Amino acid sequence: MPLVEFENLSKIYRMGDETVRALDGVGLRIDPGEFVAILGPSGSGKSTLMHILGFMDSPSGGRLQFEGNEVGRISRAHRSWYRANRIGFVFQAFNLLPRLTVADNVVLPIVYSRSGIRDRNARAATALERVGMTHRATHIPSQLSGGERQRAAIARAIVNTPSLILADEPTGNLDSRNVDRIMELFTGLSAEGQTIVVVTHDEHVAGFARRTIRMCDGRISEDTSRPV
Ligand SMILES: Nc1ncnc2c1ncn2[C@@H]1O[C@H](COP(=O)(O)OP(=O)(O)O)[C@@H](O)[C@H]1O
Ligand SMILES: [Mg+2]
Repeated sequence: MPLVEFENLSKIYRMGDETVRALDGVGLRIDPGEFVAILGPSGSGKSTLMHILGFMDSPSGGRLQFEGNEVGRISRAHRSWYRANRIGFVFQAFNLLPRLTVADNVVLPIVYSRSGIRDRNARAATALERVGMTHRATHIPSQLSGGERQRAAIARAIVNTPSLILADEPTGNLDSRNVDRIMELFTGLSAEGQTIVVVTHDEHVAGFARRTIRMCDGRISEDTSRPV
């Protein structure tokens, strides 16, 4: 079963009497365990696609299936459940809460889960260990380097064992050494079976993924995979 399947997806933004067709008939299937890079110039619809993939926005038309469920027909509450439980997000600007420690930031996605506090803290510790950030657990974000902040954000994204990680320009604020560290981290997670979609405008970053999808003017212009 595909993890995600789109058919003829469109997204139209209306601003006054101007309309922007951000997505224009996108069809896409992503299977569990795939590592996908979405490349394309600014304004080509990459973030819009990510927002729809991550249940942060709804399409204007088309069909979307997630884990076999027809998403257009599920309730708003069910959508937020997906967003909270099945998706891990990584952003260009890290989006860590500045007054919380790294450990408290990482535990946030599961803070309302039914598990007890000891179990939650253990899961946060495991996620921090996975990204090599155990020694920074009690620091606050301003005490970290950019690369460390993004590793903390990746720990937060994996803490609820999501079925899909969405990363929108995750290396956009990093120097080249940290770009490679972060992409090697995603490569490692991918090798463990994690499904990952990374949006980037950087060919070098896209080179870490097995499959590359190019977007242009709201459409997919190319979809290629390299052999294992
Ligand atoms: N909330 C919005 N309201 C109006 N237009 C938008 C909005 N979000 C994106 N757009 C427009 O949709 C198009 C695609 O944007 P986006 O998905 O952010 O592209 P990318 O991430 O590839 O740079 C652009 O023309 C952009 O200006
Ligand atoms: Mg974008």
